[in-house]
Amino acid sequence: MAEATPQTIYLKDYTPFGYQVDEVHLTFHLSPKATRVVSRIEFTPKPDAVDRSFFLHGEQLQLIAAKIDGQPVSPDVTAQGLTCDVPSTPFVWESEVEISPVTNTALEGLYMSNGMYCTQCEAEGFRKITFYPDRPDVMSTFTVRIEGDEKVLLSNGNPSGSGEGWAEWHDPWPKPAYLFALVAGDLINHPDRFTTKSGKDVELNIWVRPGDEDKCAFGMEALIKSMKWDEDVYGLEYDLDIFNIVAVDDFNMGAMENKGLNIFNSSCVLASPETSTDANFERIEAIIAHEYFHNWTGNRITCRDWFQLCLKEGLTVYRDSQFTSDMRSASVKRISDVIDLRGRQFAEDNGPLAHQVRPESFQEINNFYTATIYEKGAEVIGMLKRLVGDEAYTKAVALYFERHDGQACTIEDWLQVFEDSTGRDLSQFSKWYSQAGTPRIKVTDDYLDGTYTLTLEQSTPATPGQPDKDPRVIPVAVGLLGQNGDEVRGTEVLELTEAKQSFSFDGLASKPVPSILREFSAPVIMERESTNAERAFLLAHDSDSFNRWEAGNTLAKEARVAMVLDAAAPDADYLDALTKLVRDDSLDPAFRALVLSPPSQSDLAQTLFERGHTPDPQAIYDAAETFAQTLAEALTDSLPRLYADTTVQGAYSPDAESAGKRDLNARMLSLLTRLDGGEAAARQYDAADNMTQQNAALACLLKAENGETQSQAFYDQWQGDRLVMDKWFGLQVACSAPKKAASAAANLTEHALFDLKNPNRFRAVMGALAMNQAGFHYEGGAGYQLLADNLIALDALNPQTTARMCSAFQTWKRYDSTRQELIRAQLERISATNNLSRDTNEMVSRILN
Ligand code: PHE
Ligand code: ZN
Repeated sequence: MAEATPQTIYLKDYTPFGYQVDEVHLTFHLSPKATRVVSRIEFTPKPDAVDRSFFLHGEQLQLIAAKIDGQPVSPDVTAQGLTCDVPSTPFVWESEVEISPVTNTALEGLYMSNGMYCTQCEAEGFRKITFYPDRPDVMSTFTVRIEGDEKVLLSNGNPSGSGEGWAEWHDPWPKPAYLFALVAGDLINHPDRFTTKSGKDVELNIWVRPGDEDKCAFGMEALIKSMKWDEDVYGLEYDLDIFNIVAVDDFNMGAMENKGLNIFNSSCVLASPETSTDANFERIEAIIAHEYFHNWTGNRITCRDWFQLCLKEGLTVYRDSQFTSDMRSASVKRISDVIDLRGRQFAEDNGPLAHQVRPESFQEINNFYTATIYEKGAEVIGMLKRLVGDEAYTKAVALYFERHDGQACTIEDWLQVFEDSTGRDLSQFSKWYSQAGTPRIKVTDDYLDGTYTLTLEQSTPATPGQPDKDPRVIPVAVGLLGQNGDEVRGTEVLELTEAKQSFSFDGLASKPVPSILREFSAPVIMERESTNAERAFLLAHDSDSFNRWEAGNTLAKEARVAMVLDAAAPDADYLDALTKLVRDDSLDPAFRALVLSPPSQSDLAQTLFERGHTPDPQAIYDAAETFAQTLAEALTDSLPRLYADTTVQGAYSPDAESAGKRDLNARMLSLLTRLDGGEAAARQYDAADNMTQQNAALACLLKAENGETQSQAFYDQWQGDRLVMDKWFGLQVACSAPKKAASAAANLTEHALFDLKNPNRFRAVMGALAMNQAGFHYEGGAGYQLLADNLIALDALNPQTTARMCSAFQTWKRYDSTRQELIRAQLERISATNNLSRDTNEMVSRILN
């Protein structure tokens, strides 16, 4: 069994630390098995402290020596940390500990990845490096000396000295320990420079292992664009002499915003046309921006405690989405974000893992780096901006920086600056932070004598621990279209505050067609009776591109729902609308690609479930197949031409426009493959000079079960490139027919290049299995068993990555009793594992309850 009684931490129990940390000096003597960390920390007791107990966190540390004001002391050490008698006046704490980076497979604290030392401290990893008050509200300046044989020795802040075998760094900005970082290795840099708007010259570097130096240019450009954008849009400037980014192969997450020394999963920074897809390029640009933006939203202003995580993450995701909208197409970005939100956050919010945007309790904070904190947290900021207006938003955010720079803050502080600068009462709005669950809005309408009335009724289903919900303030952006498709009322934001409320529009010549929830103005599920004819009308005429896409998406969903429930043939009107749209060259290719992309299998399962049906993953898969086949056949005559016309010629460029064209082209190829068995795909594979086209062709061929030659060729070509091999591993599972997905994944876990210890490789296989819905849920439960086997194996090595992957089971209650019993058995088996981590234990028990 897991730890006897896992401890639950509550927001309401927050108490400040009783000591001020004035300065931190750290010296690292690096050695793979026995790194020595010497700390010298100046503490001042706080005169007004409620709690004066001196507790320093510390885990898996071997204490060699401890002193207070130069005198040896013998603290009481437990598995969680130490306590010690300390003076009531300012004192200097010194300690020396020994740690073993090379055996650290959890990838938290100081560890090694391909021979280089690196750290990951968020959320609570610093306590695995030395004894410290490891909490975000304890901020201090750090001076770090690194001694080691590696060519490159990096830490936060500015370099303050170096010599043969050592380097010293000083970070003048007070920071919490979770932003500490150290890197040491034989690395190569891709350098550049940036001059801030006030004329400060900043040295920029992307550090990589030898061999990867030709994959840094795109990331560097993205960094420079981000620095410029934050100055232009938020007025925020960089504040050190140097900004370093390091690429690391073994990393639990995407990237980390350590002050002045961002550490990236190599998959989120390294890019080249030959090895990266368009999607990779876009994601890399966004993540570089995200981490850079944290320099202000997260680092200069940080979180008081981990319950406030969305304070930095929601805001920073919101900022990076603004950046991507500005760099690329705002409407394409919005549509993609909503697809992602529905796929991940709605699944979370409507199942056993539902939690508040600001949770009030947790056992393991690492389990709360979720779509709810990040993506719903960003949606909440988008709603706030919509409610107060753009100008008021800018003013309030400026006040936030002015008032709170250098502090560790709460959501209350954030909302207060909006209240103070706008005079608006945000108490009802704050429910978006305190109430979990996705609100439903039921819409009915009525037209009489030139007046059109919309009635909106809101309710939120119960979530674990929160049976009853109050009405929230929900911004619902609405426009009205006349019968000829012209807009008769431009977008207006209705503020829904009551459980049920009506809004009238008068002076209308005839009954309008409403376009509701434009730009997806709130993260809600809208329920409204409509017809396919009306949806097709909106798809053709709505001036709001999100809602045009949404109309098409709803048509696509309804067509498949009818196929699943009534064995209906694919809806003819919809097929007709689609074939027209595909051929309409006046439309943005990226938009056409999005309209053509089918609703996810998981989204369909959730829709069926909400309507009282038990979703059958195989039936959903079959409907999708039939639909695509029918569409391909309806397009028989034009597909070869459409495919040729959308093929991007010339040298590869990752810009948004070319990427949109290639996306549409890939959809044409996948339809065409249904007709030609893979001839065009094989040709594209042979001719491809970039990964986007190579990858797309291979996916089509594998899906058609006609890609063995190319899969082998791909392997031979790329076996030396870890990131490309992740694609190879993932594609085999993602493109497997449902019946074969689990065995394909099982075989891959036996492959010589499968490595449980590398999170990217683990996710490539197990993540792809979980995403292949019909394969994962294939009758018999082999997928469940395989995932559970691998989760159990990984938990002993890497609890964080294991726990995150458990969410593959979060939707289990949607399914039939046979599947539920199969899943329950696996969850119980995981739960009964000896020495199960706190991370996985918490996830599994929440999912089971
Ligand atoms: N703070 C990181 C980000 O969002 C994510 C992260 C969390 C990385 C925990 C590592 C560990 O940018
Ligand atoms: Zn972040």
